[in-house]
Amino acid sequence: MVHYKLLTPGPLTTTISVKKEMMTDHCTWDNDYKQITQKIRKKLLDLAHVSEEDYTAVLMQGSGSFGVESVLTSVIGKDEKLLIITNGAYGERMIDICSHAQIPYSVYETPYDQIPSAARVKEILKEDPAITHVAMVHSETTSGILNDIESVTKVVKKAGKTMIVDAMSSFAGVEIEVGKLGIDFIISSANKCIQGVPGFSFIICRRKKLTESKGKARSLSLDLYDQWETMEKDGKWRFTSPTHTVLAFAKAMEELEEEGGIPARSKRYYDNNRLLIARMKEMGIKTYIGEEHQGPIITTFFYPEHHNFSFQEMYAFIKERGYAIYPGKVTDADTFRIGNIGEIYEEDIIKLCDIFKEFFEKAGADA
Ligand SMILES: Cc1ncc(COP(=O)(O)O)c(C=O)c1O
Repeated sequence: MVHYKLLTPGPLTTTISVKKEMMTDHCTWDNDYKQITQKIRKKLLDLAHVSEEDYTAVLMQGSGSFGVESVLTSVIGKDEKLLIITNGAYGERMIDICSHAQIPYSVYETPYDQIPSAARVKEILKEDPAITHVAMVHSETTSGILNDIESVTKVVKKAGKTMIVDAMSSFAGVEIEVGKLGIDFIISSANKCIQGVPGFSFIICRRKKLTESKGKARSLSLDLYDQWETMEKDGKWRFTSPTHTVLAFAKAMEELEEEGGIPARSKRYYDNNRLLIARMKEMGIKTYIGEEHQGPIITTFFYPEHHNFSFQEMYAFIKERGYAIYPGKVTDADTFRIGNIGEIYEEDIIKLCDIFKEFFEKAGADA
């Protein structure tokens, strides 16, 4: 098997020490194990800059989508309505979730390469008083754009509505002042910027809003309030917990602290991302998102002009040399993506760009 590093937005390349944690089998009823869950929940609140008095963290089995689905299907009542703000596939997934669960919603959509406007959100909330909740994605992993949750949350809170943020690929990679902004529910997962492995998502919830959601859930397994009620007692998960993932995540949290917390990790991601973009630019490869809104997590690149190779050929060439990249996901342009979260350092970016250069030269691309 070829070993390669992942330049994808999760699962991502983790440390050997995080992987080693999964060599232990733990009993879910065991007090030590339950304490690990409680410690994780407490630390998540610290990362979100919120107090335990006002907020609480819930861990939910499954991938990131399960976390988003848990919130949307648990906190919006039959007589309430959600405004979904979307500029990518993950905003569109929220629409899909609401359609499946028959949750009343309306949509404010912008093109994939543009950020939604807080002024427009303000107008929509005025025009439609039935809207009670607003949901948006922070880092739209589809394109790599970093949406302005700060100004949108401000108008949502001012209008007295509940704010839900999908920060799947940005939480802990970009500082988010959850408490100061007044975000009510924020969702991420184990295999993103905290650099754990896949297996659960987590939701940081304003206690008051979570309590108000009691009895509203449309699903048993994804019932956010019930999950919290059980976990809050002593750290026991409601149904079988992903024990190996939890152990790996606890270790990953320690390693985040050792690196210097979110400020240091965010700097590493930003530095590597900007280096990647600069080196690709030197080769004539342009980004899909403009500089102002390009996030530090993943970058969408246009192919070189007049290229005559497929993504698969490029992928195979790069994989043989130690890295896995991602196909494009935007619908209006021919692109590929490179993620730079996980155990990725400056030397990886330099090496990767040298590999790209070699590939473009070999392929005779007009880059
Ligand atoms: C912003 C965002 N939301 C939701 C998801 C869905 O997460 P998952 O694929 O883990 O279900 C992802 C996945 O990358 C994402 O980037």
